[in-house]
Amino acid sequence: MPPRPLIIDCDPGVDDAIALLLALASPAEFDLLGITTVAGNVPLALTTANARRICHLAQRPDVPVYAGCPRPMLRSLITATEIHGATGLQGANLPEPTQPMPAQHAVAFLIEQFTTASAPITLATLGPPTNLAVALIQCPEIAQGIDQVVMMGGALGAGNITPAAEFNLYVDPHAARVVVEAGLPLTMLGLDVTHQVVTTPERLSALDQLGTPVGQAAAAMLRHYGQIDIERHGLAAPPLHDPCVIAYLLRPDLFAGRPMHLAVETEGRLCLGRTVANPCPNSSANATVIETADAAGIYALLTERLGKL
Ligand code: BDR
Ligand code: CA
Repeated sequence: MPPRPLIIDCDPGVDDAIALLLALASPAEFDLLGITTVAGNVPLALTTANARRICHLAQRPDVPVYAGCPRPMLRSLITATEIHGATGLQGANLPEPTQPMPAQHAVAFLIEQFTTASAPITLATLGPPTNLAVALIQCPEIAQGIDQVVMMGGALGAGNITPAAEFNLYVDPHAARVVVEAGLPLTMLGLDVTHQVVTTPERLSALDQLGTPVGQAAAAMLRHYGQIDIERHGLAAPPLHDPCVIAYLLRPDLFAGRPMHLAVETEGRLCLGRTVANPCPNSSANATVIETADAAGIYALLTERLGKL
């Protein structure tokens, strides 16, 4: 099988950074065409610099990083520095990258890639889905160039930024609604699944013990990350959200889900950004919603791959 053409849209963010490392460590499976950044966990200038820092750490400065939308479609930006630290990559002290930065806007890059690609491209969205929504509004024909969208976002159960909503979709619920209603092949990995994939001390130590700059940077970031989620959600350890998307693309056998009809609340006072999912037959479903994950398998995959960088 030739490597799958892939674009990652993200807001690094510690867990985004680990997801990028997992993808960068998997060149046999992914032809990573580019990384697009969006404002989310931290403002756009930081998410863009952080994506470039991670490419530099992985010794892949050849992967272009395109800066995208600096704010959600309608709402003001909400960040998550209490989870990721003020820089977005708390715990890691990674140098400012020197590779040249493409001038093209992320939305223009997405439109160009999806309308000119010889084979359909997979898009992983790991942050507020603003860039994809704007691209869909500007050029609906891009749908034909998208193989599938795999999105970290949403929750069937409790949210993490409000009782009802997950962070990515709460930051830009209007963008999420555009994406969910676009009729694209869509897979959602929400909190119900990512809260099963937690960084236990043993898993953290396995990354640290790789003894490489990448393993040690990953462990340093994860050591400081997501402690609040333990208290908020009664988890055994901090959840690792975004790498689940990349792990799903690499090893779908580690996950299970089913077809559902998905909608996003954009008008509610208490439930803004809530995903409302209704299990239904394939014919009326607009998404596959992943519900369970093999956490041990995902961490084994992550540790094995990061060991290659
Ligand atoms: C999502 O929110 C962000 O803080 C994480 O990077 C992840 O994409 C989890 O709700
Ligand atoms: Ca993210």
